[in-house]
Amino acid sequence: MARICVTDAIPGPSIDRLRATGNEILVWDGAQPPGRAELLDLVRGADAVLTVLSDGVDDEFLDAAGPRLRVVANVAAGYNNIDLAACRARGVTVTNTPGVLFDATADIAFGLLLAVTRRLGEGERLIRAGRPWRYRTTFMLGRSIEGKTIGLIGPGQIGIAMGRRCKAFGMNIAYANEHTMREPAASELGAVGMPLDELVAGCDVISLHCPLTDRTRHILDAERIAAMRQGAYVINTARGACIDEQALADALAGGHLGGAGLDVYEDEPRINPALLGLENVVLLPHLGSANIETRTAMSDLAAENVLAVLAGRPAPSAV
Ligand code: GLV
Repeated sequence: MARICVTDAIPGPSIDRLRATGNEILVWDGAQPPGRAELLDLVRGADAVLTVLSDGVDDEFLDAAGPRLRVVANVAAGYNNIDLAACRARGVTVTNTPGVLFDATADIAFGLLLAVTRRLGEGERLIRAGRPWRYRTTFMLGRSIEGKTIGLIGPGQIGIAMGRRCKAFGMNIAYANEHTMREPAASELGAVGMPLDELVAGCDVISLHCPLTDRTRHILDAERIAAMRQGAYVINTARGACIDEQALADALAGGHLGGAGLDVYEDEPRINPALLGLENVVLLPHLGSANIETRTAMSDLAAENVLAVLAGRPAPSAV
């Protein structure tokens, strides 16, 4: 009998599926996510662990789990919380959940784009604060996205899904050609690839959809932010550390950028106080994949990965 540890409360059917295999299933059931010591305690003696992106999987974690550990199944597409080399060195398979969350994440990215360009957050705050208002032709005017160009950094599944939404709203689609956008998506979207610096300087909106790696940490740094068009917008549903958050806040406060829609932060769940006071920023608590259908599909895929590895089969989505 294998011991499978689950570090967060994933949707019931996935847990039931795991339980039905007759293995020992230990699920973290605290009201808050486990602290580090609780996490290390939970995974002791595990053959498999389903992790979430706030769980740091490193040598300490692997030591705590011990030599039986065969698979770490991240319930996320991103896996920057996992030390892949450390896992590889111990023969531990790492899996993630691609292919099931791109539409949900693109929905949030596009929602942020509309929210920031049409000032939805500001309008909501005004109403809830009970501040006086009346309809006026010059009141709270935003910007149209139609005919504008969005630049995608990371034209993978999520970037393409975002491009489709933007195209449907009349935007032109460009992407950083460090990675090519696959066909037929590129043709369908009429997407134009260009060097990253050209993209950043030439688009009305920059939207990030890349994984966080050594190459993409602060890919939008102070210099690139300064090179962006006056009044341009930034959307980030990727990882907070892909942007120099302080430089972004400074550019927003100084009026160089028109606004930002953020779902992710450099030091989650802490929010840079410089962002909190800005009206032209829409802030969400990392909701990219947060709908019931998507989280169920992610958990199911993670469970499938675990069961495959434990049965000696190839994992459906090994990293
Ligand atoms: C969420 O951010 C994910 O990587 O799945």
